Amino acid sequence: MTTRLTLARPDDWHLHLRDGATLESVVAASARDFHRCLIMPNLVPPVVTSTDAQAYKERILAAVARSGVDSDFTPMMTLYLTESTNPSDVVDAAATGLIQAVKLYPAGATTNSDSGVTSMDRVMPVLEAMAANDIVLCVHGEVTTPEVDIFDREARFIETVLHPLRQRLPELRVTLEHITTADGVQAVRDGDGQVAGSITPHHLMINRNHMLVGGIRPHYYCLPIVKREAHRQALVQAATSGEARFFLGTDSAPHARGAKESACGCAGVFNAPNTLSCVATVFEQAEALDKMEGFVSVHGARWYGHEVSDATITLERREDARSLDPCVALEQDDIQPFDPGVPLYWHVV
Ligand code: NCD
Ligand code: ZN
Repeated sequence: MTTRLTLARPDDWHLHLRDGATLESVVAASARDFHRCLIMPNLVPPVVTSTDAQAYKERILAAVARSGVDSDFTPMMTLYLTESTNPSDVVDAAATGLIQAVKLYPAGATTNSDSGVTSMDRVMPVLEAMAANDIVLCVHGEVTTPEVDIFDREARFIETVLHPLRQRLPELRVTLEHITTADGVQAVRDGDGQVAGSITPHHLMINRNHMLVGGIRPHYYCLPIVKREAHRQALVQAATSGEARFFLGTDSAPHARGAKESACGCAGVFNAPNTLSCVATVFEQAEALDKMEGFVSVHGARWYGHEVSDATITLERREDARSLDPCVALEQDDIQPFDPGVPLYWHVV
């Protein structure tokens, strides 16, 4: 049995770091284990221009420096696509290396997505400029039409938004982020190499029964919402398959406990502290530990046009399970890390 794994230092291709005091409290967890992280732009107000992205990047780097974690952590910035995004600002910001991708949130899809897009027609000039300059579009793939059931929103997005967009602009590369269904897996496989899919640790480990049976567990509530077991299995199969178009994006999304444990709790799972232990657990169970490095350290880097990290990280399987990660203190509250509900024997050394 494998008990030690040394991997190229992993990257997280979907991360919410927040801002201000929350950023200060959560950034160390990602900086410890990851080389590059793709930083989501859904602040309030969102990161919409290259000027916003530059300022946010500086705040992140300053917070990493203050965190005391000594690492090669590199925030890769994204811009929040709005109906007033200026195509040349996007092209220039990508050309200088400031931004890595542009993020599409359908209006109202998730936490802080009020500035999102109401119709793809309104953002076509930006998307055309992105396609011409090979800038990746990251999408939160859910429709927000009130009539569509929340469990069907990803599949409906693929059918009514992604497929038409791919027909209209086949050269545009699209990351279908945090896929949660067999439909999402299929859409990536059908994408002629132009569509990639990121997958979170929590969607690999929990299904909707974990969230809803025997009591409602608000710390498992996220968007896109966790689905039935067959979809979880399709995600595990995709992640562990070794296919280059699937890679890790944690969607670690910290919220204060009070905002989660509430009559109207908000969406997001804070998994950054134990992502690699969780992913190793899933890959071990699937007898695919040899495929883990591709998923966490190689496929995403190649998709976004980077070298795989020269640095390494080592995980060790021990007899004793990891203790549950401590809550992260905020001034008035705290943040609870993801508890997968199973023992985690893999430790980052
Ligand atoms: C994210 C957040 O809290 O910012 N929440 C979530 O459930 N994933 C937003 C998002 O990525 O959808
Ligand atoms: Zn997210």
